[in-house]
Amino acid sequence: MAPPQFSGIRACVFDAYGTLFDVHSAVDRHANRIGERAKAVSELWRMKQLQYTWLRSLMGKHAPFWQLTGDALDFALEAHRIFDPSLRDDLMSAYMALTAYPEVKQTLSKLKNAGMRLAILSNGTPHMLESGAESSGIADLLDANLSVEEVGIYKPDPRVYQLAVDRLGVTKDQISFQSSNAWDAVGAATFGFRVAWINRFGQGRERLTAEPDVELRTLDELLLVVGAES
Ligand code: LAC
Repeated sequence: MAPPQFSGIRACVFDAYGTLFDVHSAVDRHANRIGERAKAVSELWRMKQLQYTWLRSLMGKHAPFWQLTGDALDFALEAHRIFDPSLRDDLMSAYMALTAYPEVKQTLSKLKNAGMRLAILSNGTPHMLESGAESSGIADLLDANLSVEEVGIYKPDPRVYQLAVDRLGVTKDQISFQSSNAWDAVGAATFGFRVAWINRFGQGRERLTAEPDVELRTLDELLLVVGAES
């Protein structure tokens, strides 16, 4: 069945980690130094990183995503009894230079050619986002890198989603928001964006406050949804 179409979209806003940037590409790059636990380390690193965003936001103790990413990595390495400071440094450096998922660059390029404004809206610090956009070859396609650092709280706080409205100068319903993270898709739908859940990881549907408008497998499927397929 063809996915539903969004009409009147003027801007496409993307979650960064897991949606544009391959969060597991950092561990993949050094997997030979970790061995068979590599996948488990990467999964735990990501899970802890996200938990720390929610927990810090609830406690009113914001710290930049770079710090949380390091704290989460320390947790994951210790949990797997890996004590190797140079590996820790190399994984953090790799996180600054993640690769994009294969279809990302071409999809963004087609959206831009169709006249869409394009932005990242992410927990990442401005430096992390700029670095990731450069390393994944998409920096030139983006109109803005919007970071939670501007509001000092993490997704899914509505102030984060409001940043996109304020900075792109369009209304909520003119924004198509894309995330692979089911909970982020729900947060954005609750806020009032049109939302495409890019369910790359085959996650389960969240039982929360709203539903994403459409569930896709990869980002290129968005082109049809926003009417940008040439
Ligand atoms: C981000 C996390 C949620 O980029 O992936 O905001």
